[in-house]
Amino acid sequence: MNRKYRKPFIAGNWKMNMKPSQVKAYMDELKTLVPRAKWCEVAICAPFTDLPALVKAVREPHFAAGAQNMSKFLSGAYTGEVSGDMLTDLGVKYVIIGHSERRQYFGETDELVNEKVLAALNLGLHPIVCIGESLEQREKGLTAELVTYQLKAAISGVPAERLRRVTIAYEPIWAIGTGRTATAEQAGEVCSLIRAVIRSMYGARIARGVVIQYGGSMNDANAAELLAQPDIDGGLIGGASLEPEKFAAIISAANQE
Ligand code: 13P
Repeated sequence: MNRKYRKPFIAGNWKMNMKPSQVKAYMDELKTLVPRAKWCEVAICAPFTDLPALVKAVREPHFAAGAQNMSKFLSGAYTGEVSGDMLTDLGVKYVIIGHSERRQYFGETDELVNEKVLAALNLGLHPIVCIGESLEQREKGLTAELVTYQLKAAISGVPAERLRRVTIAYEPIWAIGTGRTATAEQAGEVCSLIRAVIRSMYGARIARGVVIQYGGSMNDANAAELLAQPDIDGGLIGGASLEPEKFAAIISAANQE
């Protein structure tokens, strides 16, 4: 983290967990555990059906609601889709775009990810853009190339003044839900590469303002070490965000003056 230029940002990704009826109790418990997240931004990215309850429950400064996906279209005959316009209308601030599970199970391509990022920014949303390599790609030494490619594709056409609304989440696929966290050095190295790529595209001033998260088996035990890396500004937390106590501990690791 470099607090001079960036505010730490911890986001939970509930994935396809938690029912609308469970949201209030979760948030009540989390707020008791973290009464004031003053020095960091916190978001929970929930299933669409949870969002009305979540938006109602997070009415606090430094706390925001996020979605896990959105349509690239604004409105129209697209059965089963949810537009970014609907999300902003509800009071949702963030939207995860291009999560590896969407790429893997729902066929999302780099091109579609880019279209969604541009659509989200047009609507005033704050996209959390996920990139990261598979185990096979890492073992073949392709991590830097792949991450650079995914990043450039995802933010292609984003003007500099909009980039400050974009968070990049580096999520190595082999670390997601596996309990196998990247070491702080491995994660820090790729996050520094991500910032270097942004610097080459937008210049040093813009690049130092972009928030970069790490995601992949981040938990209460390893958060502080990961966050100590200079270019890791926060985390995108899956499993551990489902338990208020664990999530609160991660927030506390980032919520230091
Ligand atoms: P886990 O924290 O469960 O590994 O999931 C990470 C993730 O995919 C967050 O988007």
